[in-house]
Amino acid sequence: MKYQAEIAAARQKRPEGVHVSCEPQVGELLYALIRLAQPGVAVELGVFLGYSSYYMLSALAANGSGRLYAVDREDCGSGVQNAPECVFIQGDSRAVVPGLPMMDFVFIDSDHSYNVTRAETDLLLPKLNPGAVLVFHDASFDGVAQVVAELPPQFQRISLPTPVLPDRALIRGRPSGLAVVRFAGVA
Ligand SMILES: C[S@@+](CC[C@H](N)C(=O)[O-])C[C@H]1O[C@@H](n2cnc3c(N)ncnc32)[C@H](O)[C@@H]1O
Repeated sequence: MKYQAEIAAARQKRPEGVHVSCEPQVGELLYALIRLAQPGVAVELGVFLGYSSYYMLSALAANGSGRLYAVDREDCGSGVQNAPECVFIQGDSRAVVPGLPMMDFVFIDSDHSYNVTRAETDLLLPKLNPGAVLVFHDASFDGVAQVVAELPPQFQRISLPTPVLPDRALIRGRPSGLAVVRFAGVA
């Protein structure tokens, strides 16, 4: 696979013991997607301990261009603030997103309820460049699944399974799940 050696190197250096909220396999997929998509502006909603951020920032560093706007309502900056590609913004996603630049890549892993995820998505839509990729984590949550199902037709979607990990709880007996969406642009 393309980027296999890079991903193996990133795996060696990844932060230990903080992946309870994001499977290593999801981090590695984010790495590959960012290497392929070469985003100028990437956004992460929900940083927590910075596990997914680590993979996204590593991929941007390998790209040699692009910036990650990492947003969390808590002070999660310590996990990401040393990366030169990162701008950490503390605040509610719904207040922060309108002030962000136009985006090429978004990882949504914050509240997971229907109301908040729908509000985040509605605010993101006018901020997406054509071809932008959105990745929804925990897409097996009913609220996230409903938001993805309601996206307008110019979004192409695929759903991917995620592995069951011993230290990550199942959600209503299901793995967390991932939805990948590509914005084709305004018709
Ligand atoms: C599941 S964790 C994120 C996990 C992270 N992506 C990782 O790889 O470990 C969810 C995070 O979203 C944040 N969050 C929840 N609702 C939010 C909101 N409305 N605005 C900003 N951050 C929010 C929480 O503070 C928490 O840190």
